[in-house]
Amino acid sequence: MATFLASVRGTWWRIPSIPSKRCRAGGARHCSVEKFAAMKPNPVSMHSWMHEFAKPGPFAEFLVEEMPIRFAERIRWIEQVQEWKDIPELVDSHMKHKASFSYIRKAEPQDPVNFQKAVQKVLKRQENMVELMTLGMHKLRKLRRADNFDHFTNKFLDNFLLNRLGCNLLLSHYLACAHPHRKMIGIIDPQCDAVETCKAAGQEILSACQDFLGRKPVLRVEGFSQEGHQGPAPRFAYIPGILTFIMRELLKNSCRATLDITPNDADLASRPIEVVACANAAHVMIRVSDRAGGIPIEVGNRVWSYMYTTSSGKASPLSGYGVGLPLSRLHARYMGGTLELISLPGYGTNAYLSLPRVDKEMVEVVPDEDAPAALPYSFTV
Ligand SMILES: Nc1ncnc2c1ncn2[C@@H]1O[C@H](COP(=O)(O)OP(=O)(O)OP(=O)(O)O)[C@@H](O)[C@H]1O
Ligand SMILES: [Mg+2]
Repeated sequence: MATFLASVRGTWWRIPSIPSKRCRAGGARHCSVEKFAAMKPNPVSMHSWMHEFAKPGPFAEFLVEEMPIRFAERIRWIEQVQEWKDIPELVDSHMKHKASFSYIRKAEPQDPVNFQKAVQKVLKRQENMVELMTLGMHKLRKLRRADNFDHFTNKFLDNFLLNRLGCNLLLSHYLACAHPHRKMIGIIDPQCDAVETCKAAGQEILSACQDFLGRKPVLRVEGFSQEGHQGPAPRFAYIPGILTFIMRELLKNSCRATLDITPNDADLASRPIEVVACANAAHVMIRVSDRAGGIPIEVGNRVWSYMYTTSSGKASPLSGYGVGLPLSRLHARYMGGTLELISLPGYGTNAYLSLPRVDKEMVEVVPDEDAPAALPYSFTV
């Protein structure tokens, strides 16, 4: 088992964790959250997702050791917020994480039926976690009334939600591997078609525009080969769910801004939204351009804040909470990608998404306070 774990954890800059097996053997119930929070998480490479972890048995063995470490880290982060007991959302989130921590510790990987049930239950408890934690941070900001507090909340949510994203994806991958699909390896498509994924996300958002607002912008999606000619779509081994999530958020923003700035339907053709997907051997790159007037220069890097939105009132299918961009950037970063924006004030916005495509070099980014450097936090617009 030790050799197996060493092989699937991938090469990463962290020292391998203290084997939690000792805790399990000595009685799971005696091993505290603090003990697990002090252990180092073990980021998984895309290569391992597709090979060793395509087998539910060994994967379950890994999860039962790894998930408590990552859940404990999040529990500790909440407890480090001095006022957490005064904020109902943080209390609720803490309770859910504690319950999942104990639950996964007690799950038996040798019993696949019950283990799948345990995984489903843990995933279910995470369902509204983004809303819960964002609301909790909004309330904390009100309580503290401190200047420059957004920096703390953004960093906190980046680390918390990136940790959560990794757990959710690993657990979903386990469930998908337990129910094989012809085209996929768990939640990974070994031949993910970037152009088709962008087109599907585009259709979905255009339908939402039509249904909700009764009108939709013009959208063009194109793929280019490395030579720069329109040609075969860039394909790569990737988690299509991540790409779909990011494209939906970018297109929702571009559609909303385009429709806002173009009250007259006849003008929509002069403000098309254009998506270009291209690739070289190492990266798939996608650009989303709109001509919706751009983001005001004074907004600057606040656009990446979980606290910034120009959406007023109730959430709509196109905008709502101000979390679409920061969450999309986290999704891009999870396997080593980047998301950047360039706004041309008065003209439009370009979003640049870069995703790595060499499976052995793609490794999860798992924020960890015990590591020498937590997730780098940059406000690059
Ligand atoms: N393409 C764009 N053109 C103009 N403004 C944009 C564009 N993309 C984002 N913005 C601005 O940035 C803000 C934050 O975007 P973000 O996607 O994070 O949140 P949101 O769209 O307001 O809500 P949510 O995405 O959570 O539904 C938007 O409210 C909008 O003011
Ligand atoms: Mg948005």
